[in-house]
Amino acid sequence: MNKNLISIKDLSKAQIQDIFALTEELKGNKNKFSKVLAGKTLALIFQKPSNRTRVSFEVGMYQLGGNSIYLAPHEINLGVRESIEDVAKTLSRYVDGIVLRTFEHKNVVEMAKYAAVPVINGLSDFSHPCQALADVYTIKEKLKDLGNVTFAYVGDGNNVCNSLLYACAKTGINMNVAFPKGYEPDKEVLSGAKKIAEAQNKKINLFHDSAKAVQGADVIYTDVWASMGQEKEAKIRKKIFQAFQINSKLVKLAKKGVLIMHCLPAHRGQEITGEVMESANSVIFDQAENRMHVQKAILIKLLGEDK
Ligand code: CP
Ligand code: NVA
Repeated sequence: MNKNLISIKDLSKAQIQDIFALTEELKGNKNKFSKVLAGKTLALIFQKPSNRTRVSFEVGMYQLGGNSIYLAPHEINLGVRESIEDVAKTLSRYVDGIVLRTFEHKNVVEMAKYAAVPVINGLSDFSHPCQALADVYTIKEKLKDLGNVTFAYVGDGNNVCNSLLYACAKTGINMNVAFPKGYEPDKEVLSGAKKIAEAQNKKINLFHDSAKAVQGADVIYTDVWASMGQEKEAKIRKKIFQAFQINSKLVKLAKKGVLIMHCLPAHRGQEITGEVMESANSVIFDQAENRMHVQKAILIKLLGEDK
């Protein structure tokens, strides 16, 4: 395993499969792993709000016998009170791993460069690897075989979408992405993911029409229209993204039994209707639960003794 988890791009298919195999074991046998990270401490530096990421890492660490310290934005005041380099070097003398949730992706890269301990990307403006790993794990759990899966992402080509592009490509899932013009995923991610997908005879298709993107899909996924840090754009985005809502009319165009996914937090009535969120097809809260199981596997791989 690599020292850090910054991007899914850095993981091989075999490493992802290893993480999933360990996740399955962890989910089925909580007690067996209750001491694997005894004496270890994880620092969580968050420059943005969080429910799932913070709680799942903290509880996960506790369930593995370790400890965690949450550092709110004003405490470390990253890059203002102290440079990222000095924070990384100092924390490396105390803790065994660092999770960083930040705005600029280069902050995660810089933290990893100067930290002697593993650094995990807990979301940046560019990517959200822990989320995408938990998402593909959830799809695998529900559909078993990923061999012939078509995944439709509908909405903003944002951080979550970027990570899903790599996660789907690496695990051999066909991906359709539908977004309004001007809100496409990162160009480099798209071309990188396309190469990985094509090498496995899989496809990444882009659409500006959500109806076309979900046709024949096994999974429909969406995320908020305005991400953290884009609050000022929320009003205008609400108009631009209107045709990209996941509602029951759109769901009917996909395969029967299509899985509905959302990384959460969700805005019911905007990117997804409450009806679809609560429908039998929705695996949204299983997906949220799996954040913890997958991250426990990541923590063991990065912080455990036999890494
Ligand atoms: N999905 C996700 O990362 O949720 P939080 O922002 O609540 O951590
Ligand atoms: N795209 C969202 C994901 C939240 C988990 C954001 O960055 O706010």
